[in-house]
Amino acid sequence: MRAILVGLAVLLPAVAFAGAPQFGFQSWFGGFDKAELQVGFATYQANCARCHSLNLVSPGDLQSLGLTPAQVTALLAKGKPPALSKTKPDAGGAIAGDLSLYEAGHRRGAAAVFDLMTGYRPALPNMTMLPGHYYNIAYPGGQIAMAPALQPGSVMLADGKAASVPVMAHDVAAFLAWTADPTLDERKATGLRAIFFLLVLGVVGFVVMATRMTR
Ligand code: HEC
Repeated sequence: MRAILVGLAVLLPAVAFAGAPQFGFQSWFGGFDKAELQVGFATYQANCARCHSLNLVSPGDLQSLGLTPAQVTALLAKGKPPALSKTKPDAGGAIAGDLSLYEAGHRRGAAAVFDLMTGYRPALPNMTMLPGHYYNIAYPGGQIAMAPALQPGSVMLADGKAASVPVMAHDVAAFLAWTADPTLDERKATGLRAIFFLLVLGVVGFVVMATRMTR
């Protein structure tokens, strides 16, 4: 018995940490962090919008991130030409696809985008690089036809400081999780209410049964 308890005490935290979510909304009860999503949207506008579209996102959706219509308009103007627009082929025939649902179709979701954004390294001396490609340790094959996109100093945080590359990578990854699954928060709230209801129902049922049996 004691061995089992000790085993559990060692294993459970290990399991919990191995699968620790990098993003709050991936935990059981966590929702999206609107401040993060706002930084993520600003990052997308400043660094991604000129190549990648977000066709499934409308300016109205963006207001649900807590932005005013004026802020949305200002941010959209920054992404020109043309933000939230058509997919354009890039040099070398590689396509910069629409990002609206990218994370929904990717097994690792937000973590995949974060790793890709922070995966650029200088090419090793013995590497033969394809023309127009960049070494990225997170990309299958290691060579991607997308230059490092996150420009330091391109996004300002609420405290007036420039967002670092890892912060932009994290928040744009969170933002693209939201574009891929904008109703996640509502679903979790509904789920919690259902669990609460079932618990109360269970307790009531138990009390009714117990009082009947003691009669
Ligand atoms: C200069 C144009 C350009 C910019 C700016 C750009 N991308 Fe890309 N992106 C591309 C191209 C081209 C590809 C396809 C690469 C390939 O097929 O090798 C791509 C591919 C991708 C992919 C798919 C990788 C895969 O698994 O196939 C993701 C995700 C992505 N970009 C995210 C972003 C994000 C996020 C930003 C902004 C931080 C961004 N991109 C900025 C051109 C761009």
